[in-house]
Amino acid sequence: MTQILGFGGYVPERVMTNDDWAEIVDTSDEWITARTGIKERRFAAEDEATLDLAANAAEVAIKDAGLVAGDIGEIIVATDTPEVYTPDTASFLQHRLGCDNIPSYDLGGSGCAGFVQALDVARARIAFSPRNVLVVGVELISRLISWQERETCVLFGDGAGAVVVGPGESSPQLLDVVAGTDGSKTDILTLSTGGTRDPFTVETAASGAHQHLTMNGREVFKQAVGRMSEAVAEVLEHVGGTIEDVKLVIPHQANKRIIDAVGKKLGLREGQAFVNVDKFGNTGSASVPLALWQARDQGRIVEGDLVVLTAFGAGFHWAAAAIRF
Ligand code: ACO
Repeated sequence: MTQILGFGGYVPERVMTNDDWAEIVDTSDEWITARTGIKERRFAAEDEATLDLAANAAEVAIKDAGLVAGDIGEIIVATDTPEVYTPDTASFLQHRLGCDNIPSYDLGGSGCAGFVQALDVARARIAFSPRNVLVVGVELISRLISWQERETCVLFGDGAGAVVVGPGESSPQLLDVVAGTDGSKTDILTLSTGGTRDPFTVETAASGAHQHLTMNGREVFKQAVGRMSEAVAEVLEHVGGTIEDVKLVIPHQANKRIIDAVGKKLGLREGQAFVNVDKFGNTGSASVPLALWQARDQGRIVEGDLVVLTAFGAGFHWAAAAIRF
């Protein structure tokens, strides 16, 4: 049995509105709102980096669990925007929190599905070797993408979310997680410069290729709707529930139109899908844990409720988790 012991989240103070973006690139509040539902997002301060966001969310989750750093037995950080290239953000986080010598590692590169995938890894680790696992989703995208490419820059925001999961019979229970990958679609969403195939050079840096996120927006949209809906249905089948039994679906917050299309496909009631993309934009692997933390804090979830998380991301990955509160 895997219990969720605590929830946490953090967003930087600086608000970046659509009108702010319209002063930088050729865009408008009307275009961004109509296409994505995003009105504003948060951007990290100059002196903040990924570790700071992750640590803030982690501290909230550990406190919420009624634990201290020494009670954490393992750390998994899902991020595509790490503190440094190597070592991983989890190593920095372990030291910052004071969780000495415990295994700590990143789940990197799986985009916005990373946090739900990490939950799956955490519950397997707990089943094999009971311990409290801190799972963090964190993204500081504003610093690593191009501020000139209007097709992508307006979509994203910075933030972090976290949970502590551990062995336990009480609620909330992480009932099940499903996950999948279609590696034939690596090209629909990729930042391909900087690896061994195409290493950093002075020329790539000068051309901004290292910040150039290539996205086939329509294909990502189509895959996202199909895969997230299927993952919700699959995890519900595993736990013997139906969509009518679900109090809240917490989808990855990439785009309001994607969330609406998933809602239509699954036959969701009005308000059955949680939405905060208007306030935070797409915060990558932070989006699901941030939304989960907010939903619980806002009283949208109470004891006994069945909640389903679902996400998609570059890879192309998808995942869903069922939680009984
Ligand atoms: N402001 C104004 N105009 C813009 C902007 C902008 N920020 N960005 C693109 N445009 C223009 C395009 O250049 C194009 O102009 P053209 O017709 O003269 O060529 C026009 O708007 C229409 O562009 P489309 O790509 O057809 O717009 P579409 O309706 O497909 O919406 C969007 C684009 C919002 C990206 C959509 O495809 C989408 O939501 N895709 C899903 C992708 C997504 O959410 N990705 C998130 C990151 S991935 C993740 O979370 C894992």
